[in-house]
Parts: sequence; C-alpha cells; structure tokens
Amino acid sequence: MVDRFAGLGWRVMATTRHPKQLHPVAENVCVLNANVASVEGSDRVIDYVETNWSGKVDCLVNNAGYCLSGPLEMLAVEQIRQQMEVNLFAAVLLTRELLPGLRRAGGKIINLSSVLGFTGMPLMSLYCASKFALEGWSESLYYELEPQGVQVALVEPAGYRTGFAQHMEWPSQQAGEGLPYDAQLRGFESFRARLAQPQRGNPADEVVDKVVGLTRRQKMPLRNRVGGNSHALYYLRRLLPQTLSDSLIGRICNRLMQEK
Ligand SMILES: NC(=O)c1ccc[n+]([C@@H]2O[C@H](COP(=O)([O-])OP(=O)(O)OC[C@H]3O[C@@H](n4cnc5c(N)ncnc54)[C@H](OP(=O)(O)O)[C@@H]3O)[C@@H](O)[C@H]2O)c1
Repeated sequence: MVDRFAGLGWRVMATTRHPKQLHPVAENVCVLNANVASVEGSDRVIDYVETNWSGKVDCLVNNAGYCLSGPLEMLAVEQIRQQMEVNLFAAVLLTRELLPGLRRAGGKIINLSSVLGFTGMPLMSLYCASKFALEGWSESLYYELEPQGVQVALVEPAGYRTGFAQHMEWPSQQAGEGLPYDAQLRGFESFRARLAQPQRGNPADEVVDKVVGLTRRQKMPLRNRVGGNSHALYYLRRLLPQTLSDSLIGRICNRLMQEK
C-alpha cells in the first residue's frame, strides 16, 4: 500500500514496530519505528505530522490489526485487552489526535475492518468484537464528521494472503486443560494451518486497489466489501430471514472448521 501511494506522488508516512523494515522505499516515504497501539508510538506519529506536514493530513489509513483466536475461556485477560487496544483503541485515539489536521485538509479516514466486522465466527470472538466495534465507531463518525468535510470509510476484506494467518495469537495449551473444546480446537488448528499455507489465497492487491480507489473518490461510500466471500456473506445476511441466515452461517463455520 505504501508503494502504491508513493508511486502516485503522495507524501507517505507509515509505521512499523520492526526497525529492520525501516529501509527507505522512496524519497517521498517515511517509515517510522512506532507502535501505534502505544502512547509513545502515536506521539511519534503526531510529532511527525506537526513537524513535516504543518499538521495537515489528507488521508489516515488505520490498518494495524491482528487476530486473537481461541475459546473465550482460554484467553488471558491481558490478551483480551490487547486485542481491543490494537484493533480498536489505537485507531480511535490516533484519529482523535489527527482530526484537526484532517479537518484542515478536508481529509479522509479509511479503517481496515473485515468480513468479520459483520459476521461472527467461533473461536474468533474477540477479533470479531474488535472489528464490529470498529464498524459502529466508523459509522457514527461518518455522520459526525460529514458536516465538517471529513469523510470516513470502512474496508471489509475477506481472506487475503498477508502475514495475517502467521501472526494469529493463540492461548497457551495449559489454559485448555479440563475444558470441553478439544474437537473445536483440532478443527480450528486445521483451519488455521490451511489459512497459513504460503500458496493459499490471493495477494492483497485487491484490498490495496480498494483503499487507493477510495482516496480518489469525491465521496467515499461508508462500507466497502472486498472479495467474493465478503459479498456473499453480506447478501446472505441481507436477503435471507435472520434465523435462516444465522443457522446457515453456523453451518458454514462448522464446515470450515472441520478437521481435514
Ligand atoms: N489478511 C486478511 O485476510 C485480512 C482480512 C480481513 C481484514 N484484515 C485486516 O487488515 C489489516 C492488515 O492486516 P494484514 O492482513 O496486512 O496482516 P499482517 O501482514 O499481519 O499486518 C498486520 C499489520 O498490523 C500491525 N500490527 C499487528 N499487530 C500489532 C500490534 N500488536 N501493535 C501494533 N501494530 C500491530 C503490523 O505492524 P508491524 O509492521 O509493526 O508488524 C502490520 O502493519 C488488519 O487490520 C486486519 O485485521 C486482514
């Protein structure tokens, strides 16, 4: 995404927690060593914007996110809080700080949600909770900021081949002792292993196209699904009676998470 924006001549600032990724991509790109989910990291971003862009921001893409998976009972309190910190609060708090600059520029906010921002999934309840919350927050902000000329959009991808599956977080083995999740855990592990196969899924170009395309729209739509499964689940929910779609989605989840 950074390369695409840089190629279009944007001045881009990206963040990472991994200094070895800090190689210069192009003259118009700055990669900051910052964790946006920490106070120091977001302060570094805000300082950069003040110093280099006179506080003005044309577009903020809230992309940072990972998936905490596992049965609720097996998750540690700290893991639960951290999932919300990264997937929700980091975006909320950074946006809050950058709003004056976004308003000055008549800017755009693009939040990376997921098909799991409108569909629940077993053993991913906290990830879903974080993305559902991101959706509610973004929808409210869409209306709240419209009179000021700041636009808000959600991007809702299905599965794409990135570091996502490899970076999934999981509870410790001991946390499951004596709990009745063995069969579900085996099914989920097989699902996770399939997701993590290097040749599986499409590269994320479609998602990048969607984000870049949104920045070129005069008026961004609030919700932007990407990928066949995202559209299919959306229409399944929309067109079928609620009880039928709930039961169908349950069956799809069970099938996805069967041991293979
Ligand atoms: N890939 C998919 O199938 C898929 C589907 C739907 C939605 N999404 C969403 O797309 C977004 C990008 O994910 P991706 O697919 O590109 O996965 P990825 O390759 O694992 O990249 C994750 C990004 O989030 C940042 N991040 C992860 N954990 C973090 C933490 N604890 N603190 C701060 N930053 C953290 C990473 O920064 P570092 O460079 O510092 O590691 C990296 O920029 C996420 O919001 C994800 O939920 C992905």
